[in-house]
Amino acid sequence: MTPRPWIEAFAPATVSNLGPGFDCLGLAVAGPGDRVRARLGDAPGVVLLSVAGDGGKLPRASELNTASVAAQALLNVYAPGAAVELELLKGLPLGSGLGSSGASAAAAVVAVDALLDLGLPPAALVEAARAGEAAACGAGHPDNVAPAILGGIVLVASLAPLRLVALPTPPSLWIALYTPGFSLPTAQARAVLPGAVRLADAVVHAARLGLLVHALHEGDLSLLGEAVVDDIVEPARAPLIPGYLEAKAACCEAGALACSISGAGPTTFAFASDHGRAQALLAILDEAFTHAGVAGQGFVDQVGPGARVLSAPLH
Ligand code: HSE
Repeated sequence: MTPRPWIEAFAPATVSNLGPGFDCLGLAVAGPGDRVRARLGDAPGVVLLSVAGDGGKLPRASELNTASVAAQALLNVYAPGAAVELELLKGLPLGSGLGSSGASAAAAVVAVDALLDLGLPPAALVEAARAGEAAACGAGHPDNVAPAILGGIVLVASLAPLRLVALPTPPSLWIALYTPGFSLPTAQARAVLPGAVRLADAVVHAARLGLLVHALHEGDLSLLGEAVVDDIVEPARAPLIPGYLEAKAACCEAGALACSISGAGPTTFAFASDHGRAQALLAILDEAFTHAGVAGQGFVDQVGPGARVLSAPLH
């Protein structure tokens, strides 16, 4: 029998929300991510053959795993009847706030798009990947999968129709990212959110998001720092992350441009204008979370490209 070639795709970690952009704004980081391998299968539909790197924690059933659910959503619309097999290789920690489920979904749809030579536009890939997010945490929020697929900083300006706006990235923007040593399921972090917000708070929030977009277009990092403030979602989630408020205060005191929760947390990010300052902020985050009894690990990174095919085809 002729061996069936594998196609392997990579999708990066993402930082979503970025202060005032809850569920509509995120960025891709340059470094870590997840990989998905895809090959043609025997029977119509998507079969997840294996998952590695998750400590056995993720669902293996094809109809439950975020990667296979996203791939199946793609097939349902663009290639009904196609038969695909997947392998998922996790590089990102689960329940971390680094867009782990989004990276798996993004890598899966990019791998399948390449395998079947569909050549789909990013919006179609993002739409399918959202189905994976919905399977993972009950909400098909697009603010991780959109930057995971497009790369850079992406605003999801509307859901129906899906409108994705790529925003400029200031080249000197550096990010310190620290993941405390526990996981926080996104569904749990969403359960504590307020069901309604006061009009006055919504106005302040909207103004900050506008300022953030302006700051990115101007490449003005100090304005960006002013804009990355969230008085709606962050206060509800901070109690779920031991040491968060102390870590943030220490970062701000040390001159961080901004500091907030990455996605649903517990990863905490701080913005800096150069690599050295970002390293210093990482040390501060490490000290604060270690002091709070939730030592974890972190890294310094910049904004990076989106999901891509790594190898095609591999036997
Ligand atoms: N915007 C989502 C949230 C991201 O904050 O719940 C979750 O990864």
